[in-house]
Amino acid sequence: MLEAERVIEALERERGAGATRDRLLREAVQRIQAAEPHYHWVGIYLLEGDTLVLHNYIGRETEHTRIPVGTGVCGTAVAEGRDLNVPDVHAVDNYLACSLETAAELVVLIRDPASGVIHGQLDLDSDRRAAFTERDERELKRVADWLAGLFDTE
Ligand code: SME
Repeated sequence: MLEAERVIEALERERGAGATRDRLLREAVQRIQAAEPHYHWVGIYLLEGDTLVLHNYIGRETEHTRIPVGTGVCGTAVAEGRDLNVPDVHAVDNYLACSLETAAELVVLIRDPASGVIHGQLDLDSDRRAAFTERDERELKRVADWLAGLFDTE
């Protein structure tokens, strides 16, 4: 079960030991994916201008390494400034398929809680329909808020 507290504690330890932001973003993906077997694909996209750029991921290879804001579930989340929990990706018009097996997707923005600036997002896919619960959303939001602290908002 994903427990944000434990993921954050581990990331805090790594940061204390001098880990770079790049390393911490990779570590976060690994720890999140390891928490739940039905998190079949877990990745982080970072926002560069008006494009989401895939930073790192675990799961099946994807061709969607760069996604324009406004496109797909990922780009829509940024355009609308909100997290998106999609129980059935096949019901979404502009869905960008990473794999035919994917059934559900959850996008949680990495956004500075104070300024509202969006730095990127956690993106999760599952082969199980309606895989993501409100608890998943809540726990991932806590991790995403911690990750937002790794970015300068200047
Ligand atoms: N399905 C996403 C694209 C990214 S992949 O799931 C890894 C979308 O519709 O934006």
